Amino acid sequence: MAYDFSTIACTYDRLNRIMTFGLDRCWRKRAVKGLHGNVLDVACGTGDMMVELMKQGCSVTGVDISEEMLDIARLKVKGERLMLADVESLPFEDNTFDAVTCAFGVRNFVHLEQGLSEMLRVLKPGGTMVILELATPDSPIIRPFYNFYTKHIIPWLGSRIAGNREAYIYLPESIERFPKGDDFLKVILNSQFSILSCCQQRLTFGVCRLYIINKEVAVPGRPLCHINPKTVAKVRPFPGPHNT
Ligand SMILES: C[S@@+](CC[C@H](N)C(=O)[O-])C[C@H]1O[C@@H](n2cnc3c(N)ncnc32)[C@H](O)[C@@H]1O
Repeated sequence: MAYDFSTIACTYDRLNRIMTFGLDRCWRKRAVKGLHGNVLDVACGTGDMMVELMKQGCSVTGVDISEEMLDIARLKVKGERLMLADVESLPFEDNTFDAVTCAFGVRNFVHLEQGLSEMLRVLKPGGTMVILELATPDSPIIRPFYNFYTKHIIPWLGSRIAGNREAYIYLPESIERFPKGDDFLKVILNSQFSILSCCQQRLTFGVCRLYIINKEVAVPGRPLCHINPKTVAKVRPFPGPHNT
């Protein structure tokens, strides 16, 4: 069953700012750099990623499974489309959006492959999928500090500010369980869609990862969707604005 964010919706933004020392905003800003056009933000939560996309002049649609999270998003993104929907069955036609984004959401999908596959389905050929996700840092120097912070300080903050220690015990546990780096990119490359390129960037000692995936451009006479993961492109850098 999906983790229910409804109980922490009211304090979600405040805790994010405190827990990350405001870095979550910088990570989102970095993630949306260079995106334009008609963008879908999946697992939009309280709408912070949508706000960053709107600042760039994008036209944004947000979807989430928590009505309580969407209620808070509605206060920030007046005029943009917000919908209660599950990423596993998105209510959009194939090849609809110029870009699809997801910040700190994929870790919570019950069926990761199905969610990613839906995100790729609604992305236009040649479009960009941008995913931000938390990860455990690789550095043996940073790791003990990270462990102490996530296992002791974050649950304490969760109980003090959100009155919900369990939710903030779930956070580091779910980060630990989730595939990171190349392991995550492999899940995407194994989807049924043709990927032109994909890359990842480590942000803040690798505690946050930015994944940028480009869906293959349509070639006349060739199906856009095929079921042979061995033929998709290898993990290679994407020469886009994110690599500057
Ligand atoms: C950690 S919050 C991230 C919110 C927001 N994207 C941000 O940048 O802060 C994860 C969000 O994913 C949503 N979510 C989890 N599973 C989902 C699913 N299957 N479909 C749509 N949204 C989902 C939750 O309701 C929650 O709002």
